[in-house]
Amino acid sequence: MSVTPVLETAVDVLRRRDPELAEILLGEADRQATTLQLIAAENFSSPAVLAALGSSLANKYAEGYPGARYHGGCEIVDVAERIAVERAKALFGAEHANVQAHSGSSAVLAAYAALLRPGDTVLALGLPYGGHLTHGSPANFSGRWFDFVGYGVDAETGLIDYDQVRTLARTHRPKAIVCGSIAYPRHIDYACFREVADEVGAYLIADAAHPIGLVAGGAAPNPVPYADVVCATTHKVLRGPRGGMILCGADLAERVDRAVFPFTQGGAQMHTIAAKAVAFGEAATPAFTAYAHQVVANARVLAARLAAEGLVVTTGGTDTHLVTADPAPLGVDGRTARGRLAAAGMVLDCCALPHADVRGLRLGTAAVTTQGMGETEMVRIAVLFAQVLRGEAESQKAREEVRELAGGFPPYPG
Ligand SMILES: Cc1ncc(COP(=O)(O)O)c(C=O)c1O
Repeated sequence: MSVTPVLETAVDVLRRRDPELAEILLGEADRQATTLQLIAAENFSSPAVLAALGSSLANKYAEGYPGARYHGGCEIVDVAERIAVERAKALFGAEHANVQAHSGSSAVLAAYAALLRPGDTVLALGLPYGGHLTHGSPANFSGRWFDFVGYGVDAETGLIDYDQVRTLARTHRPKAIVCGSIAYPRHIDYACFREVADEVGAYLIADAAHPIGLVAGGAAPNPVPYADVVCATTHKVLRGPRGGMILCGADLAERVDRAVFPFTQGGAQMHTIAAKAVAFGEAATPAFTAYAHQVVANARVLAARLAAEGLVVTTGGTDTHLVTADPAPLGVDGRTARGRLAAAGMVLDCCALPHADVRGLRLGTAAVTTQGMGETEMVRIAVLFAQVLRGEAESQKAREEVRELAGGFPPYPG
């Protein structure tokens, strides 16, 4: 099994102090290295990112912002946060970056807190079409505190219905419009959203949790020039630590910062912020640009081959790392498919399918591309995938093939 040097150290220490947890770390490392991580929101952070996460910065309390902390002894971590902010601003061409949001959801919560009042109307992609929980789910703070109106996607093409967005915006006069999704595989027309927002006097919030890594690598359009506030995660294609980030113009900087701390969060997680700085540094390299483009090339091949195998691929393909598909033509529903694939070592999610009662499948190529897999491996995965769903490949044999394929591309070589 391949583990990072950081994990090796952690396991050595834990073996002596807490063998039970040491086994869990090793077991998870083994699971990740011997199965295929096709969950669209996951990736393998670099050893440098993991090193920052498991560092002395984890011990430091740092409420506030660099130069203005509640706690003493922040001189060194202040530098880490300043570096993270400057790297994020440079990477995405933003006037301001807040790197303290603990997660993507925290970033969205802070964006709403900065711009809205409870009871305001917000227009966002409806949850059945790929909106996130923070885009108005009744189970989430967003649905309870704001009045969400959902736009959808075209029943035929699966593409965002921009005419409907405009009509709903004119009818409901939202205070903010949210663009972004957990499952939309195509580029978003940020200019169009900006135009609609301007027409009705709404803020535009881009929730770019998924594509932000592609933006960093120049493989997807950048929402920063169009949106008032951009929310993102740092752990998906961007390949950093689990966490969130908010980008905005200088005019909203103070409101956004205060919405994060002290309004919605307490002490910043300095180890995570340092790890974000490392990830932003990595994402600014030509190697990451090549990676981001390969992620998309891989997803396109995966989508095309799954379609050739008979799955119905939403929108007919992808522009991103993300593919959603209905396996029904292969005689299996999404939930059953996910279980069968998991048994064969192919780990992915179910998702809502637009204009359908059944659940579909959501796959992503960020993690397997980090492992070094290319188009050839995508074809192999798609073929095996379909064989498993059709019941042609005996589960144990498929599991062995996955193990062999994954073994050729260790996430942490050496
Ligand atoms: C569009 C979108 N927004 C927000 C989030 C929330 O991120 P987190 O799980 O870090 O809270 C996600 C996560 O998948 C997402 O896809």
